Amino acid sequence: MPVFVFDAYGTLFDVHAAIARHRDAVGPDADRLSDLWRTKQLEYTWTLTLAGRFIDFWTLTERALDYSLARCPSVDPAMRSRLLDSYRVLDAYPDARAALIDLKANGKRTAILSNGTLRMLAGVVEAAGLGPHLDAVLSVESVGVYKPRPEVYRLVIDTFAVMPAEVVFVSSNRWDVMGAAAYGFRAAWINRGGLPEEYHDLAPARVLSTLAELPDIAAAHPI
Ligand code: 2OP
Repeated sequence: MPVFVFDAYGTLFDVHAAIARHRDAVGPDADRLSDLWRTKQLEYTWTLTLAGRFIDFWTLTERALDYSLARCPSVDPAMRSRLLDSYRVLDAYPDARAALIDLKANGKRTAILSNGTLRMLAGVVEAAGLGPHLDAVLSVESVGVYKPRPEVYRLVIDTFAVMPAEVVFVSSNRWDVMGAAAYGFRAAWINRGGLPEEYHDLAPARVLSTLAELPDIAAAHPI
């Protein structure tokens, strides 16, 4: 039976929601700050993993925000704690809960596989009420390396005792889809923004524009 495994940040949870909640207080550089925060957060995961080091994702999220605030001097540094508090309870995308409920109603198993710490993931899952619709929440913490290292994707295999081809991996991050495809998962890329294709050698099995399309496609044409 296939397992549907979801990336968390950017796929189920909107990483730009923290700043969106405080848009007026953050001011005219709100979008720049949000983009920089996410870019640096991911960059730190990749560079540390390449260097053979591991620092937890919450610490990297704080450090990425500190760097981004330093690059956006128009933003009041006192926003730091409010933005981090919002990141702990990021909004889920409006289609996330319904997609999980539909998949469970169709007898699928569901999980999160994320760079986030278990504590961070527990916070956002609880805030969005997704807990009852997930069979597992898996964090890179237990392997001490970040995506797209294969050790991370192997956590799904170890948890559910399935073959890679039985896993449908769902991510809006094209580089994460690349890692999942390289590992042997069938990957669905949620391309909300209509971004151009990349990593052509490691393509997704499906490209969808919302999570809402997932249960229909899973039922009609098993991926
Ligand atoms: C996650 O692992 C990549 O941030 C993304 O949740």
